[in-house]
Amino acid sequence: MEKKRRDFMGLSLGLFTAAGGIGALYAMKRTWDPLPSVKAAGFTTIDLASAQPNKLVVEKWRGKPIFVLKKTADMEANDRDIVIGSDRFHVSIGLCTHLGCIPAYAGAEHKFKCACHGGEFDASGEVLKSPPPSPLVIPPFTIEGTKLVLGEAGPEYKKMLDAGLIA
Ligand code: FES
Repeated sequence: MEKKRRDFMGLSLGLFTAAGGIGALYAMKRTWDPLPSVKAAGFTTIDLASAQPNKLVVEKWRGKPIFVLKKTADMEANDRDIVIGSDRFHVSIGLCTHLGCIPAYAGAEHKFKCACHGGEFDASGEVLKSPPPSPLVIPPFTIEGTKLVLGEAGPEYKKMLDAGLIA
């Protein structure tokens, strides 16, 4: 009788754990669902038209994770923002400038947090807490309507480069 009870409890715990795991995977997939994008010969084209405010999207460009964050109206504007119409976006290579870990986005705090050594960046990719020595890196980009083409240095990117906003 006791053995049956233990078996039942073990099975229940297993099912509960499996359900939790599936739930976590689903939540992760929703967070990581990419925007419509096309990848070709070193270029990634991302359509930002359906981006949701304060919802981080992680894309891929030349094997690197790319953070795309549409800013909310209450997020501070920054000269590093990519402006499309009336919307502002933070776009960066999603690798911590300390030793290259991938920071996580804490949406409630509007911060990127790096679990490796505790570094933090704000929603514009600026360093809030060391050890990262510099802001998150903005990849070369050009804007075509509501689309962002990564891999091509357009006029907006060159302007940021000339202003010393990109390391
Ligand atoms: S790699 Fe991010 S803080 Fe060290």
